[in-house]
Amino acid sequence: MKKKIKFIKIAIDSPAAAGAGTIAKSISKHYNLLYLDTGKIYRMLAYIKIYQKRNFNKSFLKWKIRNLNLKNLQHKNLLSDDVSVEASSIAKDKNIRKLVNSFQINCAYNPPKKFNGSCLDGRDITYKIIPDADFKFFITANLKIRAKRRFQELKKLKKKVTYLKVLKSIKKRDKSDYNRRISPLKKTKDSILINTSNLSKRACFLKIKKIIDREINS
Ligand code: C5P
Repeated sequence: MKKKIKFIKIAIDSPAAAGAGTIAKSISKHYNLLYLDTGKIYRMLAYIKIYQKRNFNKSFLKWKIRNLNLKNLQHKNLLSDDVSVEASSIAKDKNIRKLVNSFQINCAYNPPKKFNGSCLDGRDITYKIIPDADFKFFITANLKIRAKRRFQELKKLKKKVTYLKVLKSIKKRDKSDYNRRISPLKKTKDSILINTSNLSKRACFLKIKKIIDREINS
């Protein structure tokens, strides 16, 4: 007999442009989970640092996060290359991470009642934000494929970029995200590795759905 889904928490970590966001979105929609792309919060703070420098202070950022509406994280300005690189740089700051973490933890453990749970993706979700997640995934793909995907995404948004610039900036972010002292990107032992290099979006979705269904229907 099919078990009714009670409350599930899904944690996903991944390097930049590995397709985690696309998969997390479709999985969240399928199981009716609150989805949070945690990188967007770092991007929002990076945007403030670059374009609204005067507001880049603890009290304003605190206020901004406290009053954060998830819809505001969808702005395409947050996707540009300069914002990506700055996001990766400010994400090394322990005070910035502290500000962001409580918001993320609240989304993960207390999503609005209409949801069956939560699904968060980022760099430290599987071991810092939701260490007791019901499902943990580490989603990756090879560097050139990630750069190509991100380049095509940015082209679609009419951003002026070259493939080489995107490749360079993803490389730089990988280096920083994997090697930083605080909350580095890593695959935890209890995370399932999904390599999306040769998988379509649909194939990735089905692979993860199969893993989740097997567990919740057992
Ligand atoms: O996922 P996305 O590429 O949008 O993340 C932008 C940057 O934010 C990453 O390169 C990473 O440095 C930082 N980040 C983080 N922890 C997270 C999510 C993102 O440090 N949970």
